[in-house]
Amino acid sequence: MSLNDQWMQRDLKVLWHPCTQMKDHQSLPLIPIRRGQGVWLEDFDGKRYLDAVSSWWVNVFGHGNACINARIRDQLENLEHVMLAGFTHEPVVELSERLVQITPPGLNKVFYADNGSSGIEVALKMSFHYWLNSGQAAKKRFITLTNSYHGETVAAMSVGDVSLFTDTYKALLLDTIKVPSPDCYLRPEGVSWEEHSRVMFAHMEQALAEHHQEVAAVIVEPLIQGAGGMRMYHPIYLRLLREACDRYGVHLIHDEIAVGFGRTGTMFACEQAAITPDFLVLSKALTGGYLPMAAVLTTDEVYAAFYDDYATLRAFLHSHTYTGNPLACAAALATLDIFRDDNVIERNKALAARMHSANAHLAEHPHVAEVRQTGMALAIEMVQDKTAKTAYPWQERRGLRVYQHALQRGALLRPLGSVVYFLPPYVITPEEIDFLAEVASEGIDIATRESVSVAVDNRYPDHRDPG
Ligand SMILES: Cc1ncc(COP(=O)(O)O)c(C=O)c1O
Repeated sequence: MSLNDQWMQRDLKVLWHPCTQMKDHQSLPLIPIRRGQGVWLEDFDGKRYLDAVSSWWVNVFGHGNACINARIRDQLENLEHVMLAGFTHEPVVELSERLVQITPPGLNKVFYADNGSSGIEVALKMSFHYWLNSGQAAKKRFITLTNSYHGETVAAMSVGDVSLFTDTYKALLLDTIKVPSPDCYLRPEGVSWEEHSRVMFAHMEQALAEHHQEVAAVIVEPLIQGAGGMRMYHPIYLRLLREACDRYGVHLIHDEIAVGFGRTGTMFACEQAAITPDFLVLSKALTGGYLPMAAVLTTDEVYAAFYDDYATLRAFLHSHTYTGNPLACAAALATLDIFRDDNVIERNKALAARMHSANAHLAEHPHVAEVRQTGMALAIEMVQDKTAKTAYPWQERRGLRVYQHALQRGALLRPLGSVVYFLPPYVITPEEIDFLAEVASEGIDIATRESVSVAVDNRYPDHRDPG
């Protein structure tokens, strides 16, 4: 038995993996990873895989990054953890100062959580609680876009709309208001992203006009709806949304968990609309992909609504045990150093252009409806019928074939349903981008060549299982 097999057997006896039908592993091998270096992961049998999706969108400067490793090691010598209630420490103060400095003006206070979903819970609760503290108890609902994803905890699921993840739990969810997404894949032929995003904003305007008195906040994934299939829209939507939220007295929550830290071509997506949200939620690449952490940035105005004598019970009595963990802060500080010192956002422009040129030909593929890109995220939408944009039935699991082909060729490409995408670490080389494009192209050929016979059950019409 190979070393890979041995680890897989031990694993399957005791582990239950995330976002996985465990029975799949009867036929689909698990890949035990022994080490990572740069964009490469290596399994126990010595095979290497190019991490095209940055290990679920977290890794921006490569595995085993020397700067981040060193900073964590240094921190480890001094302090691994201390609770953040009543105590503080150097890396959390420094990180908070730097986050305030690099995010849009007006976001002056940082609250930490220990994963993205928990960060979303913080923002939702803070917004609701702000209005409560301000004497507006009726404002307790949230507006969200169709096809959104904000995480897996119950309130985060409530503001999400990828039915695969949420339908089963409907009975548990908050009652939210869903507004049609500006998703530009769905724009009519000949209409620009900007025009479509503007037109779709009418739905948001209407929802705000109708419901603002009962709405605490609008929550969006700015520019890219990630788990919803890397669907993209124009920054004008965010500008219009900011104006409307101000007009109607509603908070704006930007979930930049996936898109923050350079993914869209600017450090934060909100920069492209030149706006400041009331809450900015960061996670994933915040620690360079090393340690779980989320930061929720907000304004002095929100902070002030909670600041009072203890007995008024206006405080935000929310905590996660590992809030502000020093090792995670150290990883984040090293990550911010690399952004500052290596001119990353500028250098990424050439990489993004290479991603475009390496994949542009796929737009002509008979089973590709669209190749779309925002900054360092590029997605290829496989379809059954190109002209009508008819999706493949999800049961056919076409993406899974691309995934399997890519593994054979030495790439970790994990499609979302029929959407093949690249979200590579920023330390990828132009040649590695070309290699990924080649693998994706072959995988798409293989996945779309054969017809597949499966029972079709449309319970989950927008199924985005990664495979
Ligand atoms: C936009 C967005 N929000 C929230 C989350 C949830 O983050 P976590 O998985 O750390 O809970 C994700 C995760 O993919 C995400 O993409």
